[in-house]
Amino acid sequence: MTILVTGGAGFIGSNFVLDWLRQSDEPVVNLDVLTYAGNLENLASLDGDARHSFVKGDICDRALIDSLLATHQPRAIVHFAAESHVDRSIHGPGAFMKTNVDGTFTLLEAARAYWSALEGDAKAAFRFHHVSTDEVYGSLKPTDPPFAETNPYEPNSPYSASKAASDHLVRAWHHTYGLPVVTTNCSNNYGPYHFPEKLIPLMIVNALAGKPLPVYGDGQQIRDWLYVTDHCSGIRAVLAGGKLGETYNIGGWNEKANIDIVKTVCALLDELKPSAEGPYARLITYVKDRPGHDRRYAIDARKIERDLGWRPAETFDTGIRKTVQWYLDHPEWVARVQSGAYKDWVSKQYN
Ligand code: NAD
Ligand code: TYD
Repeated sequence: MTILVTGGAGFIGSNFVLDWLRQSDEPVVNLDVLTYAGNLENLASLDGDARHSFVKGDICDRALIDSLLATHQPRAIVHFAAESHVDRSIHGPGAFMKTNVDGTFTLLEAARAYWSALEGDAKAAFRFHHVSTDEVYGSLKPTDPPFAETNPYEPNSPYSASKAASDHLVRAWHHTYGLPVVTTNCSNNYGPYHFPEKLIPLMIVNALAGKPLPVYGDGQQIRDWLYVTDHCSGIRAVLAGGKLGETYNIGGWNEKANIDIVKTVCALLDELKPSAEGPYARLITYVKDRPGHDRRYAIDARKIERDLGWRPAETFDTGIRKTVQWYLDHPEWVARVQSGAYKDWVSKQYN
């Protein structure tokens, strides 16, 4: 048996592939086009491991997906590939429509053709697992209850609108064609291999470089934070036991204001790598707010906990400490991601 993972060179996808192969020997075919966010270095520990096959390619390429499905006969597709950064979606929404909407459509059509031709147990066991975000539900007021699976979709950014569109396609392919799908909507992840354009890794790398720590607006926006390997275990639980056509919210019950996240990162760095110039919090700089900035996200994770027995293994305190330590231990990874040297290597290797 084999699974096909899309976007497995990105932040969550690479953590998922590493985690999957730590837990089982079931091979992974990893399809990733290697945008700026895809990094094969994340998977370097799998070099020479026959259980992992990397394919550089686009989820919009139907012929490629058809051939991968025919060759590898996966029992599941776990779909991470996406454009994922809200700020980039504000500057250039086109790539988000292409990959997140068209790409998911292409993958669904290829999966439908493949699954329709399966028979017996293979057909019954097949799953299309769509990995999505809590941002599709929009923004909560301070006293609103956290997002449940039944909340209406109210996406506010080009990113969340494109993910909402993809969720709707997945739902419709189940409802109309019977494609065996499950969808997970997860809160903000953090942990190793997080590209330093997102809040937590950006703050760590900027602080270490003595650069300003840019906090948007008043810094009181709230996100729910989940350590990335807890997201991976949630996906495994839903893939194994989730009901077809259902969605499961995954979250860590960790609502935090951005400014508190930044202060926590600074305090950990003060402890683990003190700066001669004084506490890192001196670098905090309030900057212009993000247009349309969602004020609060929070996840009600009771369904996955109750129905599938899933629980996060990390608290925010243990997860953020591990994360800061990981960045301190991997300065070369950070330097290569930032310098563009990594991209040069990929074009040498593949072109
Ligand atoms: P990421 O940006 O780090 O990685 C995305 C990966 O997809 C990259 O490796 C990239 O090269 C690849 N990719 C992009 N376009 C592609 C295409 N057309 N064909 C093939 N590969 C392509 O993103 P991430 O943070 O790892 O997020 C993964 C998934 O999880 C996304 O679907 C995202 O919406 C969802 N999600 C993310 C978070 C979060 O906090 N990061 C939270 C909830 C859900
Ligand atoms: P981000 O990591 O981009 O995730 P998302 O927008 O998907 O939640 O941002 C997390 C929060 O941090 C969000 O409220 C925006 C804020 N933020 C800053 O204040 N400064 C920054 O430099 C970045 C990148 C984000």
